Amino acid sequence: MTTPLRLGIAGLGTVGVGVVKIVRQKANLLAARTGRPVVITAVSARSRDKDRGVTLSGYAWEDDPVALATRDDVDVFVELMGGENGPAKASIEAAIAAGKDVVTANKALLAHHGQTLAEQAESAGRVIRFEAAVAGGIPVIKALTEGLAGNDITRVMGVMNGTCNYILTRMLDARLSYDEVFAEAADLGYLEADPNLDVGGIDAGHKLALLASIAFGTRVDFDAVELEGIQRISIEDIRQANDLGYRIKLLGVAQMTGRGLEQRMSPCLVPKNSPLGQLKGGTNMVVIEGDAVEQIVLRGPGAGEGPTASAVMGDICDIARGIRLSTFGIPAKSLTTARTAQSNSPAPYYLHLTLQDRPGALAKIATALGEHGISIDRMRQTKHDTTDAPVLIVTHKTQRADLDAAIQAMRASGVMAADPVALRIEMV
Ligand code: NAP
Ligand code: HSE
Repeated sequence: MTTPLRLGIAGLGTVGVGVVKIVRQKANLLAARTGRPVVITAVSARSRDKDRGVTLSGYAWEDDPVALATRDDVDVFVELMGGENGPAKASIEAAIAAGKDVVTANKALLAHHGQTLAEQAESAGRVIRFEAAVAGGIPVIKALTEGLAGNDITRVMGVMNGTCNYILTRMLDARLSYDEVFAEAADLGYLEADPNLDVGGIDAGHKLALLASIAFGTRVDFDAVELEGIQRISIEDIRQANDLGYRIKLLGVAQMTGRGLEQRMSPCLVPKNSPLGQLKGGTNMVVIEGDAVEQIVLRGPGAGEGPTASAVMGDICDIARGIRLSTFGIPAKSLTTARTAQSNSPAPYYLHLTLQDRPGALAKIATALGEHGISIDRMRQTKHDTTDAPVLIVTHKTQRADLDAAIQAMRASGVMAADPVALRIEMV
């Protein structure tokens, strides 16, 4: 008789319930694939009485996730509560100290405390696995740490927040404003409890920082991610981008350059016929480039009960099979501290300016661009019946620092009626 792998699950919300369902419904499959039974012994959530649509009566209940994490009959502590600190962090630390392996879907926690937790786990001979934390059901961490282990990774990029992609694609398809689609997303339950985590690019930034650590063998450095959210993207921007042959995406890019590690998460224009441009709704896509493999594209559901539980189960099955990898692909103590590089590789930019409608205004804008070495590729003043004139400019390739200096000069010229929107055009 083989020894069962015993799970303690803290958090019985969307993801936790999905994991309970798979363990219950696929017991034979999991045992056949891992060579041993995978069973749940104990669970924890805030409310014991809530109907969660699954039978929990066979499992011990703990009100306190730390108590669950340290039970003698738990081999793997599965943290599915969420939160950057609080019970998630306390219970994972307790689990490691008590000699348990850990599986979590908690990107916020790992983006801030991943290095410390990984060091704690590795010095205790334990593993922390977190496939579900990045891009939901897409096995991107497995791809990077295992399938692409023979590559020097040169760039990782992608769309890693389903809610933002839903908002941006729905605005285009339904010709609705940002505020209207944001309200829809809230009604559909797509938004995080703090919506700014989604629309402010923070959640996607957490995921990018985790991928960058694995890809480049560097310590997770979320604070170095250049972050910009989608809150200022208007239906007009989406429509104009579409007319120009682009889609707007919240795009993350991490690349190691001669100057250091660039990490940025910001709305960008991508060609509408590219794989990223065609990505619809809550779907995620991660593009990985390596010296040997060249480029691979992974696409799939970025959130939801089934996809996220699928990723959690992949980690649990690896532990059941005895596969033990360092949290970030190499031992945490060997991860290097990357020099932070501002992303200044030249690119064309889309500019949406709102000018005072008076003689000479456009000339001042053109002068500001010209004086900073920025050449205009296309320009159009859109129809308006107000005293403010909307002007759209696509520049030739320029560095962000030069563009920022030009925008500063435009502001100082006194002809701007509102802050401009400046979006990088990424030829992916
Ligand atoms: P959720 O639906 O809000 O569920 C959270 C669960 O944690 C609930 O069952 C809650 O208990 C329990 N909980 C919260 N605080 C607790 C505490 N102090 N003690 C014990 N239990 C506590 O969250 P979720 O969507 O399943 O997300 C879980 C984790 O997965 C998060 O880290 C999230 O970022 C990550 N994730 C989620 C998705 C997704 O699609 N949902 C995708 C990728 C990653 P009650 O039910 O009693 O309130
Ligand atoms: N809020 C996240 C998203 C959930 O929209 O992608 C999955 O991590």
